[in-house]
Amino acid sequence: MASKYQLKNNSFYYEGTDIPKNKFDIRDSELIHEIEKELIEDAYNIFYEELTDKTILDENYFKDLHKRTFVSLYDWAGVYRDFNMAKGESIFCQGAFVESSSKKIFEELKEDNYLKNFENRPKEEFAKKLAYYKCELNALHPFYELNGRITRMFFDMIVIFNGYKPIDYSTITPKQYIDCAIDCVQYADETGFENIILNGLIKI
Ligand SMILES: Nc1ncnc2c1ncn2[C@@H]1O[C@H](COP(=O)(O)OP(=O)(O)O)[C@@H](O)[C@H]1O
Ligand SMILES: [Mg+2]
Repeated sequence: MASKYQLKNNSFYYEGTDIPKNKFDIRDSELIHEIEKELIEDAYNIFYEELTDKTILDENYFKDLHKRTFVSLYDWAGVYRDFNMAKGESIFCQGAFVESSSKKIFEELKEDNYLKNFENRPKEEFAKKLAYYKCELNALHPFYELNGRITRMFFDMIVIFNGYKPIDYSTITPKQYIDCAIDCVQYADETGFENIILNGLIKI
């Protein structure tokens, strides 16, 4: 088990690695990352093609992103964790409350019309809302793994729906990104993500 993870379910990764047990028994870190990358690229194309006015960007959709992207590789694709989890000093939502906390977040998102109505509203307002929900989902950290990538894909589908390109994170370093995630989880401060998103939002 990699030291940065504190999992109750410590048989989730191959011993001594951060590679999740997978359907092909792949234990090569580079290979697994390459496969994950390809699966995500395929999923972007599929979900982009499927996106219509009728698409409901709700919890099922969010879970489905994870499930359909990774079901060929991982048994737990689309499944929420039920054990406690932390990274570094950040403690994510307790395992026992992941289901109910997720419901709450997505009820709020529904009241916000799944952020489907920002095409003609100020970018600043949109970035603020996106950052708020990004922080909520970051603190929830509902899946065993791949939360970062799936959450980014979820918000990318939302911004694409509103006439933007996928959010551009290329100008920030991984450390800047993680620092913003830490601010979210430990200090409920979403301004870091708000700035990143504002800079990364570009109209098509
Ligand atoms: N120390 C931390 N504090 C808070 N959030 C963190 C920390 N480290 C990572 N994260 C968040 O967790 C995400 C990584 O979660 P993970 O499930 O491993 O997803 P992925 O494998 O797609 O990167 C990061 O993108 C970030 O949002
Ligand atoms: Mg990861």
